[in-house]
Amino acid sequence: MWPEHLPLTARFGVIEFDGGDEESLVESIALVNEFKARGLDMLNVSIGCSTIEGKTPWAEGFMAPYAGRLRQETGLPVATAWCIDGPEVANAAVEKGELDLVMIARAHLADPHYPYVAAQALGDKKPAWVLPAPYAHWLSRYRGIGKAAAQ
Ligand SMILES: Cc1cc2nc3c(=O)[nH]c(=O)nc-3n(C[C@H](O)[C@H](O)[C@H](O)COP(=O)(O)O)c2cc1C
Repeated sequence: MWPEHLPLTARFGVIEFDGGDEESLVESIALVNEFKARGLDMLNVSIGCSTIEGKTPWAEGFMAPYAGRLRQETGLPVATAWCIDGPEVANAAVEKGELDLVMIARAHLADPHYPYVAAQALGDKKPAWVLPAPYAHWLSRYRGIGKAAAQ
C-alpha cells in the first residue's frame, strides 16, 4: 500500500492526435477524476502513442495547453514533458496556469547544467543556487560555466 504521506503520481497518454481527440480527452478526464478520488496527487500528461494514425503536432511546448485543460477540469496539479526546451517556454506555461511542474528530458540530457542555464536566462541573480548547495557551491566556482556567474 502506498503511504498516504507520500505523493502519488501517474503518467497518462490523454490524446492520440488521431482525429478522436475530444473523445480521448473527455474519457481521460473522467478516468483521472476516478484516480483522483482514489488518492492520485499529480498527473503527468502525455501522448497515447498507441496508434500509427496519430499525427502529433510536434512543436515546442505543444502539450502544455492539453495539460492545462486536464488541470482545469480535474483540479489536480499537472506536469508534462514533450519538447519544452527553452526556459522561457517552461516559465510561460507555469505563469499561464497550464503546468505546475515542467519536465525537461532531452534538453537536460544535452546540458547537465540546464537548471543553471535556465535560471540565468530567466534573470536569476544567483543562478547556481537554484541547485542544491553542495552542487551550487562548486558549479559557481567552475571556470567554465561558473565564470560568468562567480557568485
Ligand atoms: C533516453 C530516453 C529514455 C526515455 N525513457 C522513458 C521511459 O522509460 N518511460 C517514459 O514514459 N518516457 C521515457 N522517455 C520519454 C521522456 O520521458 C519524455 O517524455 C520525452 O523525452 C519528451 O520530453 P523532452 O521533449 O523534454 O525530451 C525517455 C526519453 C529519453 C530521451
